[in-house]
Amino acid sequence: MTIRTVGVLGCGLMGSGIAQVSAVAGYDVIVRDLDQGLLARGRAAIEGSLAKFVEKGKLEAAARDAALRRLRSTTALEELQGCDLIIEAVTEDLELKTKLWTSLDQLCPEEALFASNTSSLSIISMARVTKRPDRFLGLHFFNPVPLMPLVEVVRTVATAPEPLAAAMDFVGRLGKQPIAAKDSAGFIVNLLLIPYLLDAVRAVERGVASVPDIDAGMKLGCGHPMGPLTLLDFVGLDTSLKVGEILYEEFREPRYAPPPLLKRMVLAGWFGKKSGKGFYDYSVDPPGVTPL
Ligand code: CAA
Repeated sequence: MTIRTVGVLGCGLMGSGIAQVSAVAGYDVIVRDLDQGLLARGRAAIEGSLAKFVEKGKLEAAARDAALRRLRSTTALEELQGCDLIIEAVTEDLELKTKLWTSLDQLCPEEALFASNTSSLSIISMARVTKRPDRFLGLHFFNPVPLMPLVEVVRTVATAPEPLAAAMDFVGRLGKQPIAAKDSAGFIVNLLLIPYLLDAVRAVERGVASVPDIDAGMKLGCGHPMGPLTLLDFVGLDTSLKVGEILYEEFREPRYAPPPLLKRMVLAGWFGKKSGKGFYDYSVDPPGVTPL
């Protein structure tokens, strides 16, 4: 199967990144979100990111302009009906996702490939509402999408080999490394990453060390690009809590159980960088340490 046009559902952090890398790779892209404001914000993020690549000489100005020309946005779901591949990157809400997939299943021809960028929900729980579970899979990108070189390609018990191969090929054409994962909670990366991040919160709870020292420990001692508490703020405390809850629900092992401090911070509305506050306070430059 040939993929020429990619539809992206959701123009937030992940959706805009997926739209950007697809357009840069030469695909025609249609991004759909609920209103023009959200679409404009996504477009601005894409333009900002592309400008950085051009500034650094990693992308020709002409290639940027061509990518932007390949990128269309819409609020109408119907406009995605001609897409060969649809990648969904909306809020981690199963009801919302299944509603969208049910509508798209009716709109799109049966050969179109459906993929979800979910990091926590099972792929089969979405595939089951469509008439194409064999052409439904997970394409899990990492934040920030334009920089992170990995995509987890997730197959369910029902995914057929040909769509899987087409998805692997698509990821390669984006210039990213695909890795094959089964439809198991957390796939590969979050299964290993989330308990590590939760352990860092437990270390804060136990008063093992300060937030900056825990971060410096893993950054300088293990060569990680970000310490675990900075990474939690970056990924989103709400997102990390949700993934932890799903892993715990699935495996019932204490290492996946979100620590009380994380729950309290999310209840306080501290979601990390995106809300301006998490383990660090982003209202000041450079960010300060949040007293806990
Ligand atoms: N587009 C283009 N360029 C960008 C960019 C973007 N969106 N974001 C940053 N950059 C550029 C910066 O301008 C900077 O360029 P220079 O080096 O030329 O100045 C460069 O990238 C590096 O950025 P920074 O200096 O701001 O910061 P950094 O050196 O720490 O690198 C990082 C940033 C690549 C994000 C790095 O810190 C990193 O790899 N962090 C770990 C990220 C990670 O683990 N992501 C996965 C999270 S888990 C997930 O996503 C899955 C899930 O389901 C929860």
